[in-house]
Amino acid sequence: MRHYRLMIPGPLEAEPELLAPLSQPLRAHYGPEWVSEYREVLKLLKALFRSERAEIYPIVGPGSAALDAAIGSVSGDGSPILVLSNGFFGERLRQIAASYTREVSLITAEPGRPLEPERLEEELAHRPELKTVAVVQGETSTGVLNPLEEIGKICRDHQALLLVDTVASLGGVPLEFDAWGIGLCVSSTQKCLGLAPGLAPLAVSPEAWQRIESGQSPGWYLNLRTWKRFATEWGDSHPHPVTMPTGLMRALQLSLTGIFAEGLESCWERHRRMSALIRRGLRDLGFELLAADECALPTVTAVRVDRRISASELLSRLKREHNLLIGGGLGELAGKIVRIGHMGPTASPEQILPTLYALEQVLRTAE
Ligand SMILES: Cc1ncc(COP(=O)(O)O)c(C=O)c1O
Repeated sequence: MRHYRLMIPGPLEAEPELLAPLSQPLRAHYGPEWVSEYREVLKLLKALFRSERAEIYPIVGPGSAALDAAIGSVSGDGSPILVLSNGFFGERLRQIAASYTREVSLITAEPGRPLEPERLEEELAHRPELKTVAVVQGETSTGVLNPLEEIGKICRDHQALLLVDTVASLGGVPLEFDAWGIGLCVSSTQKCLGLAPGLAPLAVSPEAWQRIESGQSPGWYLNLRTWKRFATEWGDSHPHPVTMPTGLMRALQLSLTGIFAEGLESCWERHRRMSALIRRGLRDLGFELLAADECALPTVTAVRVDRRISASELLSRLKREHNLLIGGGLGELAGKIVRIGHMGPTASPEQILPTLYALEQVLRTAE
């Protein structure tokens, strides 16, 4: 099958050394050697979430599996949840929540605009029964970064548990699990970690545990009580309820070691600089950026398509003539925007400059 260069918002062009562990001989997912490697990965993930207090569970599955586990474990007993949504993945949080509880409230913002913390403050002040808030940090469908630190502070002031989707942002955007008062935080291997999909790291605070353990959420595999029970009772030999993808865990260890060798803050800074580079290049090509500079997500950029070329023509010519894939719009933005991912190894001039060049070539012959 032909290989296309992936500048979609994940998965992306992976480094060969991070793919190599997936073709190694298979190993057992239990026993002392495995447990010591597993614990090392959890330690690195804790540092990635910037937490001393969280427990980490690498849920086997895509990011949505861990979102399902997080939401179901706190609201699966029907307790109310407030979802903040400004795009396709905020709407996914609402849908997952609605599958567990009838008591889902919603605060929205227009796609392309960030969520407004004042509206959260108002809602929590008037509705003290709302004890869980869910939000996406980096809304991949529009390239908007939501003001998570402020949202965290408001949740703390109102003793509400904050559940965050950092699938497209962890590792590429500043995040402080402890300092920002986050309760549950979900990510995934195929974005800024530069790996294949298949693991969804989930961090859980002690306060979130109190809620989970005092509730009666249903389910087994995606119920975090099951994960905790195995970590506690089977800790020395098999600290997780299911068979782990040992090759992907090894790749995750290598990816995290690479991020800490670069320096986590330097890695955030690289994503910020590369976002500025691509935004400048796209503006020079005459595109209108969907998100304003102040709320630009450093890992994904969305631009409106205009009269020069349709979104579908742009995507198919990039693919056919330049062997390059970028993303289209999702939901109501389909046909109106295109999206470029620049995260992990693709947050680099070596990937961004040829992407801009390919766009320029296609536009030049479209006009
Ligand atoms: C912000 C965000 N949340 C959730 C998801 C869903 O992740 P997955 O496809 O791994 O379930 C994505 C995928 O692109 C995402 O970008």
